[in-house]
Amino acid sequence: MGDKGVFWLPDAMSTFAGEVDALFWFVFWTSTVLFVAVVAAKLYFMFRYKRRDETSVPDPVHESKLLESAWIVVPTLLVLFVFIWGFDVYLRMNTAPPDAYEITVRGKQWAWEFEYAEGVTTFTEMYVPVGRPVKLVMSSSDVLHSFFVPAFRVKQDLVPNRYSSVWFEATQTGEFQIYCTEYCGTAHSAMLAKVVVVSEEEFASWITEQSQDLPPVELGAQLFAQCALCHAVDGTTKIGPALNGIFGTQQKLTDGTSVLVDEDFILESILNPAIKVAEGFQPIMPAGYSGMTPKQLDGLVAYIKSLK
Ligand code: CUA
Repeated sequence: MGDKGVFWLPDAMSTFAGEVDALFWFVFWTSTVLFVAVVAAKLYFMFRYKRRDETSVPDPVHESKLLESAWIVVPTLLVLFVFIWGFDVYLRMNTAPPDAYEITVRGKQWAWEFEYAEGVTTFTEMYVPVGRPVKLVMSSSDVLHSFFVPAFRVKQDLVPNRYSSVWFEATQTGEFQIYCTEYCGTAHSAMLAKVVVVSEEEFASWITEQSQDLPPVELGAQLFAQCALCHAVDGTTKIGPALNGIFGTQQKLTDGTSVLVDEDFILESILNPAIKVAEGFQPIMPAGYSGMTPKQLDGLVAYIKSLK
């Protein structure tokens, strides 16, 4: 959550956030008022109509048509009002304007992948222009994930084998946290990224800069962001082994044999991670990275080879 805003709601940073908050506060305060009124009435009646001696018998209760209709009609109207209000916001939140800028979002164990129409792909940061509707077309390569940006009040599941979508318009520049809010395995809680909201001009120059062809090692370094949750490059052990300084060494495997770490072994470990598992580790690496292009795979191999 942000450092500002309140416990439930961080600062509102999208065009819909204010509407979502208004509805939230309406439900919150009507519930609070009703709760206090009901409890207060109950306490008052408990004392007011307390049985005072052994022989006392209460008067028979006579129904009040007015009172009974009131407690049927008033809550029904209140609930309908909340439903109509919520449904109206929901419909508009789910209908992206036709001129929205589209970004393809893929969720996989355990990284986010953001692909832009200009052919640019990022992993830990999703750049968007401020003041322009952005539509995310999302799918998952493996299990259920859920895309959540609290500051935008945007949350949507990513489901394998189908597309889901969500849209928003950021109202201010800045960086906002993206969470995965659907339990998706070992590194679910670390499946994080940031939305970086920049001005229209900054966005245009960023896209141009990114779409330039990168040398293989730099391309690999960029792609490695999605591996970094599980693989360190400074010698520390995370969920998977550290990958620096391994090139050209002999790697012990769980089956007791050893293998030379060369380009072929690195590539095989990306495409079919379960075939040769490093000693001391579980065979939990997802096979979802095999969808990369040959150029991307070459870049990743070159980058891992370059790590000292
Ligand atoms: Cu992806 Cu939780």
